[in-house]
Amino acid sequence: MIQYSCSHGGVYTINPSLVKVDFSSSINPLGISKKVLNALRKNLPKLSSIYPDNENSILKKKIIDYLGSPLTLDSINIGNGATELIYNFVRSFVRKQVVIPSPTFCEYEMASRKLGAKIKHVPLKNWKLDIDSILEKSKNSEAIFLCNPNNPTGLFSHHLERLIEGIDDSIKILIDESFIEFVDEKKHARTFIEKINEFKNIVILRSMTKSFGLAGLRLGYCVSHPSIARKISLNKITWNVNGLAQLAGVTALENLSHLRRARKIIKSEREFMHININKKLSSFSANESDVNYYLIHLHHGNSTQIRDLLLKNNGILVRDCSDFKGINDKYIRVAVKTHDENLELLNSLESVDK
Ligand SMILES: Cc1ncc(COP(=O)(O)O)c(C=O)c1O
Repeated sequence: MIQYSCSHGGVYTINPSLVKVDFSSSINPLGISKKVLNALRKNLPKLSSIYPDNENSILKKKIIDYLGSPLTLDSINIGNGATELIYNFVRSFVRKQVVIPSPTFCEYEMASRKLGAKIKHVPLKNWKLDIDSILEKSKNSEAIFLCNPNNPTGLFSHHLERLIEGIDDSIKILIDESFIEFVDEKKHARTFIEKINEFKNIVILRSMTKSFGLAGLRLGYCVSHPSIARKISLNKITWNVNGLAQLAGVTALENLSHLRRARKIIKSEREFMHININKKLSSFSANESDVNYYLIHLHHGNSTQIRDLLLKNNGILVRDCSDFKGINDKYIRVAVKTHDENLELLNSLESVDK
């Protein structure tokens, strides 16, 4: 059987004991909230030994409260991370061919290839979606994957409407909004959730592991027209989301001040890092970004060398982007973290600057 690989950030990609600060995973800079942690501690004995709610009913109601209309219980699927829902989407709709812009998150390709589908890659143009080319390549495809804001570029696209309106509605479109909650308000990043009942071919994906710092617990959801949600739910494994993850999600959505605080930190810290990297360092320049991570362009060396050097010198782990399709080995991706952590990254970059 052919093996396909898909690389990620995170401390388990190398020897975890070498990592002092992980900039390679882009999650909430404040991590998990105290309120969620307290709820988990209190309920650990009970929830560890009973079966979880297979319907995720309380969590779905909280998601409806959070996102508002036009959602109903039957428009939501909950997953063991957003990743599980990418696979369920693919199992539900993909057979022969899909369209994927590049560079982007690799699980869309991985899931589609595992099902035997061919991939039509559409390179970004100046880091932006090439909408005409996506429209052209979507012929004979069953699905298109759009990551908005995109990973690893960090940019939000305001031009999906033209693409979605130009696509035959037999082609399903997965819009991955896993990082949308971190986009600055000023950018007016409009979600497609309000459109799910107008378009019967759109699925919007969200990850709670990023917004609420639950990467280890695993939690994500997707919303769509109920007729599509029903098809995705046919691929759900019974009890796929454990009780602790469900409780964490419910408590996180009842305490949104944690996410608001994180958004403020991201906005000011991203600006701080950009100004300092671009003014002070000659071997590195930071790309524009709308979210909680950004690409750093390397003027010397390659991304694997720089990752290994920062790790060896200071225990700082960055994302080596050389394994993203459609990007060369001159980029690393780093998360926006707290001020003290960002200063450590800056000092570490400064120490290898030429
Ligand atoms: C764009 C994007 N979507 C989805 C995921 C997966 O998220 P989860 O941890 O909820 O499975 C990631 C993880 O890095 C991601 O970058």
